[in-house]
Amino acid sequence: MYAAFRSVGAYVPERILTNEALEKMVDTSDEWITKRTGIKERHIAAEDEFTSDMGSKAAAQAIERSGISKDEIDLVICATISPDYFNMPSTATIISSKLGLPNVMAFDISAACTGFVYVVSIAKAFIESGMKKNVLVIGAEKLSAITDYTDRATCILFGDGAGAAVISATENREEAIIDVHTGADGTYADLLMTPNGGTGSAHDALDAEAKSSCFMQMKGNETFKVAVRTLTNDVKAILDENNMTSDDIKHFVPHQANYRIIKAVGDALKLKEEQIVLTVHKYGNTSGSSIPIAINDLYESGKLHQGDMMLLDAFGGGLTWGSALIPFAGPKA
Ligand code: ACO
Repeated sequence: MYAAFRSVGAYVPERILTNEALEKMVDTSDEWITKRTGIKERHIAAEDEFTSDMGSKAAAQAIERSGISKDEIDLVICATISPDYFNMPSTATIISSKLGLPNVMAFDISAACTGFVYVVSIAKAFIESGMKKNVLVIGAEKLSAITDYTDRATCILFGDGAGAAVISATENREEAIIDVHTGADGTYADLLMTPNGGTGSAHDALDAEAKSSCFMQMKGNETFKVAVRTLTNDVKAILDENNMTSDDIKHFVPHQANYRIIKAVGDALKLKEEQIVLTVHKYGNTSGSSIPIAINDLYESGKLHQGDMMLLDAFGGGLTWGSALIPFAGPKA
């Protein structure tokens, strides 16, 4: 049995936060943000709009486009670092309930911006082992809730949104996900972290200064260098191991953190401009949601066709990284 990537869906909240609006909040400029990151605007969820709300909307769209009935979904996995509740219940269980999925196993995973590649790898393993048949994978983030809007080094980067896909069992090798690479190295944990909020620290009695440690903190420049090196090595390895070259790739869908990282990896792979999917200018960095949102943009613009080979590539807090070679299978006949 193989795993086929059947459909995609996405949702971004209505409210837009522009670079010009950020200029009024912190000491930054549209010029700096555009030049260093490529980001022009990002979407921000309403106060009462939760990660599971965004995830449910993206997931409903992915199910509708998959040719699979929602009653057939037997596993739901949500990649998020901004869950509705940090301990329990998982965001995946809330999404399952909001969608009325009657018969599922559901859980969250935490792999930051690599989250979507991780959930694809888990879905593939469950399907190939015969344990599950129709897996709903979601990347959903309300990063605005864990972003410090007084820290110009991070608040200009992040946005909210969700993306989802249905991955289902197939006997047709032509539509099978070819390979997924995943990696992690916790020795770099301090490059990108939310120091407080986990069980490693006391939650109570935080003074104002300590409160900032509940937000994301990043050593951006060091992260940038490790990201370019790791991503380039990883995508070269997955292509080599599968006897493929960049010419075999129709759509390179990288995690949308920074245009300069995407460009550096694209140049190293000698990819042409038309092969690279770029959405960072519109949505900023939406962590685990960014890849499915980008695939959805491609789909809705009419550029994603059955059989198109996608190369996914991601890097994030942990540190974690991953890549995947996925032909777009299209809906189940
Ligand atoms: N506006 C103006 N100036 C700024 C801003 C800002 N918003 N932010 C930082 N600066 C200043 C710095 O203070 C520094 O000033 P100095 O030279 O006087 O000290 C200068 O700009 C350069 O700062 P750097 O941090 O070196 O800038 P860099 O070119 O590295 O860009 C960025 C920063 C955009 C964060 C980049 O390093 C990056 O994209 N890093 C990787 C991010 C990433 O991929 N993360 C992983 C995924 S995220 C996740 O997993 C949740």
